[in-house]
Amino acid sequence: MTQHFDLLVRGGTLFDGTGAPGRLADVGVIGDRIAAVGDLAGATADRVVDASGKAVAPGFIDVHTHDDRALLSNPDMAMKTSQGVTTVVVGNCGVSLSPLAIDHRPPPPLDLLGEQDWYRFPRMADYMAAVDAAPAAVNAACLVGHGTLRVGAMDDLLRPATPAEIDRMKERLAEGLAAGAIGMSTGLFYRPANAAPTEEVIALAELLEPVGAIYTSHMRDEGEQVMESLHETFRIGREAGVRAIVSHHKVIGTPNFGRSEETLALIERTRVGQDIGLDCYPYVAASTVLDSSRLERCSRVMVTWSTRHPEVSGRDLADIAAEWGVSQLEAVDRLNPAGAIYFMMDEADVRRILSYPHTIVASDGLPHDSHPHPRLWGTFPRVLGHYSRDVGLFPLEEAVRRMTGLPAERFRLTGRGQIAIGAHADITVFDPATVIDSASFEHPATPARGIEHVFVNGRAVWTEGASTGNRPGRLLRRQDLQAAA
Ligand code: ZN
Ligand code: CU
Repeated sequence: MTQHFDLLVRGGTLFDGTGAPGRLADVGVIGDRIAAVGDLAGATADRVVDASGKAVAPGFIDVHTHDDRALLSNPDMAMKTSQGVTTVVVGNCGVSLSPLAIDHRPPPPLDLLGEQDWYRFPRMADYMAAVDAAPAAVNAACLVGHGTLRVGAMDDLLRPATPAEIDRMKERLAEGLAAGAIGMSTGLFYRPANAAPTEEVIALAELLEPVGAIYTSHMRDEGEQVMESLHETFRIGREAGVRAIVSHHKVIGTPNFGRSEETLALIERTRVGQDIGLDCYPYVAASTVLDSSRLERCSRVMVTWSTRHPEVSGRDLADIAAEWGVSQLEAVDRLNPAGAIYFMMDEADVRRILSYPHTIVASDGLPHDSHPHPRLWGTFPRVLGHYSRDVGLFPLEEAVRRMTGLPAERFRLTGRGQIAIGAHADITVFDPATVIDSASFEHPATPARGIEHVFVNGRAVWTEGASTGNRPGRLLRRQDLQAAA
């Protein structure tokens, strides 16, 4: 009997997400699931994709994003689907769009997601319902941001939370987890959370493990105090008994160049007794809100947006200051609220961290910046084409694992991140010979080359250079993921 599929991806080299070497295999899809993998020469299908000479991989999973609002305001999510990304985790760095409804401008860095009118979801359930009602092209899972909880529960962010405020935050976090959030993020580096003592975070993080949720950390410091910050992150994980992720791991500032040897050694030692993971984006420049405290550690600062001076976005701070005849500090004051790209890392550290076998590839892209960091459009093809193929940091099957099987396993995204019978049909077809990022610091919003077909839940979202207009993405709720495990 002839097998018939809705979709048949034929003749490609399959990288299944486990890290196994590529092998020739066809992939048959029925509905939203992978129904067959192997030699399907005799089979027929409503749609056949010829993948000969191409790589076939699970859709990439971007576990470090700030796409909370983009799912609603840019539902085609082309900055992600054009890279082969099929699932995003939102709410990182302590910043989530919900649960929070406010009547004033959100403080930085909450303003990276949107202005006041976007903070209109008092409960995580409200935000999730909005995504359900207007699905995006990609799947999404949600973290509850500690900074967002603080802004909602405290009148003064520059002090530790009182017991009553911690109770209020716990209530909202519990609501978010009950609604289906997969964990909590913190951004202790940032002003709205910097005054929070470790104990405040532990008190909240204690809610996570009983429901199988995860903790992710943009650490208090990634420069001189990076080791202390790692210890703090591990302590939170240990005392709350929860698995932890070190977000966008890096060491910043010239005096700290090379210290990824120390940090990775500490992570490796700690992993023996504790569940620790990490993610990393493949660039030597960081990006977030514009903040004068970072200036002296950077070789170059580029302005990505400014509310008061939108005309300077994409220009170097040094040039703006020179043109205005003021110091860079004064220019920062005039530009804020604003965002920036900071050149402050060492290429050797970036390569060492990327090469560490437990490092997940993730973008940390900022989708609403008018001149964004190129990681928004370039992260995944850059690792596949530049770091794996051209530089040779690791083989292609390992590059694919770092963006599929590994993040799915760490974040417990059941049924995603692998090409296997019964898995959800999230599939990326790319050309291993040509795949490369095109987004540069000068021209950041440029789709990558070599990503040919991207399917989410069995439906095409990106085909040969363009969005299809389909929006088959789903909100992935923790309870559903656990029930399917
Ligand atoms: Zn961050
Ligand atoms: Cu981030």
